[in-house]
Amino acid sequence: MRMKEMLAAGIVLSMGIQLFCACSKEMPYEENKVYVGVTYYNQSDTFLNQLIASLKENLQEYEGNGYEISILIRGAGGSQRTQEDQVKELIDSGCNVLCVNLVDRADPSEIIDLARETDVPIIFFNREPVAEDMMQWDRLYYVGAFAEQSGIMQGELAVEIIQSDPLVDRNKDGKIQYVILEGEAGHQDAIIRSESVVETLKSHEIEIEKLSNGIANWNRAQAQNQMLQMISQHQNRIELVLANNDDMALGAIDAYEKLNYTESALPVFLGVDGTDVGLEAVRDSKLAGTVYNDKEGQAEAMAELAVALVSGTGMEKIKFQDKKYIYLPYMKVTKSSVDRFMRR
Ligand code: BGC
Ligand code: CA
Repeated sequence: MRMKEMLAAGIVLSMGIQLFCACSKEMPYEENKVYVGVTYYNQSDTFLNQLIASLKENLQEYEGNGYEISILIRGAGGSQRTQEDQVKELIDSGCNVLCVNLVDRADPSEIIDLARETDVPIIFFNREPVAEDMMQWDRLYYVGAFAEQSGIMQGELAVEIIQSDPLVDRNKDGKIQYVILEGEAGHQDAIIRSESVVETLKSHEIEIEKLSNGIANWNRAQAQNQMLQMISQHQNRIELVLANNDDMALGAIDAYEKLNYTESALPVFLGVDGTDVGLEAVRDSKLAGTVYNDKEGQAEAMAELAVALVSGTGMEKIKFQDKKYIYLPYMKVTKSSVDRFMRR
C-alpha cells in the first residue's frame, strides 16, 4: 500500500512539474491577453450604455498593437446579488481585469474579496466606492468625475441664463422659482450635484425659491411622472427645472409636452451628461444647456488602465490622484458649443 501511495504521489508530483513547465515555457504570464469583464448597475441607463460602447471601441484599438482583447459585459438589473454572481462568473470565465459599476456603491466588500482571492484587479467607474473601501486592497482603482464640478457648472449656466434673460422670472417677483429632479438616493452625483447647483446660484446672488424636489432615479419616465405631479401642484409658477442628468431633464420636457404647453410658457431646463439625446435637445433649444460628463475620456482612461494592469507596462504614464483615482473634467455645453460635442 505504502508503495502504491508513494507511486501515486510521484505521478501527481511529476504531472505538476510538467504542467508548470508547460505553463512557464509557452505562457509565462500572458501579458498581451487582456480579458476585460464589465458589470454595470443597470442596462437601461442611457449614460452608461454610451460609456460602455465607447469603452469597447477604446479597447478594440489595442488589438492592432499586439494585444489580444476580449470583453464580456453584464448588466446587473439593479441587483447587488446579481452583480456579485456576475463578478464570480466573469472571473471563472478567465477575465484578468474587471470594470465594475457598483449597484450599491456602499457595499463592494464581497466583490473586492472575490477579486482579491484570484488577484484580478478592479477598475470601479461612475459610482464611486467610499474611501475606506478603496483602501481594502492596493489593486482597486476608480475612474469618474468630480460631482461638485458638474453642480457648479450647471449653476453657472443657470446664472448666465437668468442674468441675460429677464423673462426667466415669469412672475416678475425678483426670485427664480425652481424644482430639482434628483438621481438615486445615495449616489454621489445626485447628492453633490443637487447641493452645489443651489450653492452656486446663491453665491451669485440670485434670489431663488425652491418649490419641490423629487427623486427620479436618473430615469426619463420617472422624471416625467414626478414633473406631472409638480406641475399639478405649482401650475405656471415653475421657472427653472434643474435635473441631475439629461434623461430626467428630457422626462420633465416630456411632461410639459404631454400637457401641450406652448413654448413661451415653458420653464428653463438644465441637465448634466451630454448624452446623444441630451445634446440633440440642446441643439434644438429644448434644453437650455447641459454639463458634459466626459464618457469618452473616462472610457479611454479605463481602457488604458485595464491594459496597463494586465500587461504590467504603461502604469507609469497614467496620472493618478492619490495613487488610484482618475477624474476627468466636466465641460459646459450650450447651443453655441453643442456642435463640438456632437462630433466627439
Ligand atoms: C450620470 C447619470 C447616470 C448615473 C449612473 C451619473 O454620473 O450623470 O446619467 O444615470 O451616473 O450611475
Ligand atoms: Ca419668479
